[in-house]
Amino acid sequence: MRYSRFQNTVTRLACATALTSAVIAMPAVGWGQEIGQIEAPEVNAAKAELGKRLFFDKRLSGDAAISCASCHQPENGFTDGLPLAKAYPGSDGFRNTPTLINTALRKNWFHDGRIGTNLNDVTRESLTEDYSMNMDMRLMQERVKQDPVYVEMFEAAGYGEPSNGSIRKAIPEYLNTLISRNSPYDTGTMSDEAMRGQELFTGKAGCISCHNGPLLTDDALHNTGAPENPDIWSDPVRHATYAAFASFMGIENYMNVRRDVGGYIWDHKADGSTKGTFITPTLRELTYTAPYMHNGMFDSLFEVVAFYNEGGGDDPNKDPLLKPLGLSFVEQKELVAFLEALSGDPLTSPDFVWDGEISTNYPAIENWREQTN
Ligand code: HEC
Ligand code: HEC
Repeated sequence: MRYSRFQNTVTRLACATALTSAVIAMPAVGWGQEIGQIEAPEVNAAKAELGKRLFFDKRLSGDAAISCASCHQPENGFTDGLPLAKAYPGSDGFRNTPTLINTALRKNWFHDGRIGTNLNDVTRESLTEDYSMNMDMRLMQERVKQDPVYVEMFEAAGYGEPSNGSIRKAIPEYLNTLISRNSPYDTGTMSDEAMRGQELFTGKAGCISCHNGPLLTDDALHNTGAPENPDIWSDPVRHATYAAFASFMGIENYMNVRRDVGGYIWDHKADGSTKGTFITPTLRELTYTAPYMHNGMFDSLFEVVAFYNEGGGDDPNKDPLLKPLGLSFVEQKELVAFLEALSGDPLTSPDFVWDGEISTNYPAIENWREQTN
């Protein structure tokens, strides 16, 4: 049986009514909170096309060996399939690579939410940090100016000469094109099992308290008690990378830290209550983006749901909303079916992926320091 979008709404309302009548037995989680449809942002085609080439161009990293797409791979929902990301030589990653699908619609970025301004800033950070692409912006600008294809594309996009400022605008314009489409949830074609999962999600399981709105996130920090990934502390290169990050972010005694402090890295709350908090992730496109959590500690959606069924992990700062749920095996499978119904078409066509080689086989510009293009 197929359900329409309208019927989804009716089920949600029915579920909310059931909740109010059972308000003494159950916390009133989910009351008034909705999921809803995604609205795609407007896109400037010439700027996005330029951003696409830049996203797939390895010359944007210091050693010209990795591009944004080396970690944000289209066939994996713009993630890398690893628990913890790789990093520039000399560093190693300490976080799971998040999806970039719908990232243009977020209110803050990175698992700890340390950037709350815009994607221009996130792009700058991704390019320049030594654990990411370790790129010097001046060198990047000169490399890009050497390539006649870029000179033409920057002109066509209305940016004039290639500059690092416009690189940081063009990549976010491309990110604006990475928007979910045609998930069974959006097209009203969810299975009966997924429909029952949605009722649990918005009702008895209480997921909607934090995972709400079209992207299924409240864009806020919460502590779920997700287990630490021991590789960050047992692998000397990862540990050194995290220690350098914590030192740069002003954490006292950064050499003694043995856990990912999450949101505390930037809000430094004196009572320590934000240690181990992470920004609620989107639940869209999850079928492409395993493993899960900020550190990739869960391999499957069933493992994540089983974790919540236990009431989350063990942490003094754990969010009081997380309590053992008492879901049966069948109910846990229904929740998983609903989560799977939030994934749409893969964004792997040439609309989203730079098609073919990026040729670096162009004649060198004579006296390039004197040239203005
Ligand atoms: C070496 C792997 C790697 C490369 C290369 C890389 N990223 Fe990322 N990206 C990550 C990881 C890991 C995170 C999460 C970091 C964190 O939470 O601290 C991330 C986070 C992001 C986010 C935030 C997403 C969100 O919802 O919070 C955006 C946007 C992003 N990257 C864009 C880019 C762009 C654009 C490039 C190229 C300029 C790029 N990344 C290159 C691994 C990478
Ligand atoms: C108290 C707020 C809160 C509630 C309630 C909550 N979550 Fe989460 N959820 C989070 C946060 C925060 C994370 C990220 C934790 C991390 O990265 O360590 C997360 C992560 C996840 C992930 C992993 C996504 C990914 O890409 O890694 C899934 C799946 C998920 N939650 C599903 C659910 C389901 C299903 C429920 C209901 C049973 C639920 N959540 C209830 C806050 C919440």
